[in-house]
Amino acid sequence: MRHCVLVTGGAGYIGSHTLVELLSNEIEVIVVDNFCNSSKEALRRVEEITKKSIKLYPYDCCDKELLEEVFRQNTFDAVIHFAGYKAVGESVRVPLKYFRNNLISTLNLLELSEKYQVKNFIFSSSATVYGVPKTVPVSEESEIFAMSPYGQSKCMIEQMLTSFSKAHSDWNIAILRYFNPIGAHPSGKIGEEPRGIPNNLLPYITQVAIGKLPYLTVFGKDYPTEDGTCIRDYIHVCDLACGHLLALRKLYTNCGRVVYNLGTGKGYSVLEVIHAFEEASGLKIPYQIGPRREGDVPQNFASVEKAKKELNFVAKYDLHQMCEDAWRWQQKNPKGYQEE
Ligand code: NAD
Ligand code: UFG
Repeated sequence: MRHCVLVTGGAGYIGSHTLVELLSNEIEVIVVDNFCNSSKEALRRVEEITKKSIKLYPYDCCDKELLEEVFRQNTFDAVIHFAGYKAVGESVRVPLKYFRNNLISTLNLLELSEKYQVKNFIFSSSATVYGVPKTVPVSEESEIFAMSPYGQSKCMIEQMLTSFSKAHSDWNIAILRYFNPIGAHPSGKIGEEPRGIPNNLLPYITQVAIGKLPYLTVFGKDYPTEDGTCIRDYIHVCDLACGHLLALRKLYTNCGRVVYNLGTGKGYSVLEVIHAFEEASGLKIPYQIGPRREGDVPQNFASVEKAKKELNFVAKYDLHQMCEDAWRWQQKNPKGYQEE
């Protein structure tokens, strides 16, 4: 049977890589994206990579009337919901913006999925729901607890999905908790395009490498880790994309509600990432040690056993390849998608 999937936020960083994975596996896609944090050019490039076409609705998922058009005009058997805001720091300053966009978009999608009987749903959650993990590697059974409005929106949506699934035993819902996605498609055609000064480590490093920013500030060197800097589980965005295809296949077996960590299971410190990038690019990254960033946890990395056992998910790319691909994307697109 040929599948068709509605992908919200498909023009974004993780969405665009997932589109490549879906289209390359003969799954049709319909994209809803209002481009509030992305560009149409990303979709054009996905079409260029896959030689397949994408049906686009440039709509806001918070506009239920418009969103209903998509459900009325098309037949699809699953929804992958990437659309949302994701900047932790901004969410502390303007929490309501985050609650509105992240919660309302999901509520609309769920209500319409119920009305049009689309019974398979994948949600982009985050390792941020583990707050300060009591032990690492952190497993899916750990308590969830959020430290920012962004994280709270993810926890609330997870709860919403859990309640919905209890009321609808014939629905299949995958909650995917991403660790730290980095890297880009090996073609260098699609990648992450932060607006303004990047908040995240890898985009900051690549912008220092290309000369847009003078140096990197390492946020804290007094954490209880081997070199004193924070440890995270960085995962190649193409591995993450592959995790979505595997989760989708799982949903098609009528699995009910499932929760998976998507990470590599390996933690790297900030200094290790800098050194890996230097090795991959052949460049020196100037950096200085600054104070801790509020809200950062000393270490977080995934227990990957469940995803391996139930989805057959194993991350293939190592840190060196993640850095190489991030650097290729940055070099080929110094101005992001505006270049062409
Ligand atoms: P992104 O900002 O690159 O992509 C999100 C996309 O959704 C963008 O194209 C944006 O234009 C679109 N969008 C936002 N609100 C919308 C709305 N109301 N209607 C229609 N389109 C809308 O982000 P990403 O890194 O690709 O993240 C995708 C999802 O994964 C998000 O839900 C994010 O919270 C989650 N996540 C991301 C990370 C990460 O580090 N990148 C980690 C964990 C979880
Ligand atoms: N870091 C620096 N300097 C920088 C940027 C980051 O030292 O300029 C450090 C941070 O202190 C942290 C590590 O690099 O120790 C990683 O930071 P990121 O901002 O790249 O990633 P986070 O782990 O803080 O958060 C990311 C996403 C969140 C998501 C979380 C878990 O930004 O949305 O991963 O999935 F919730």
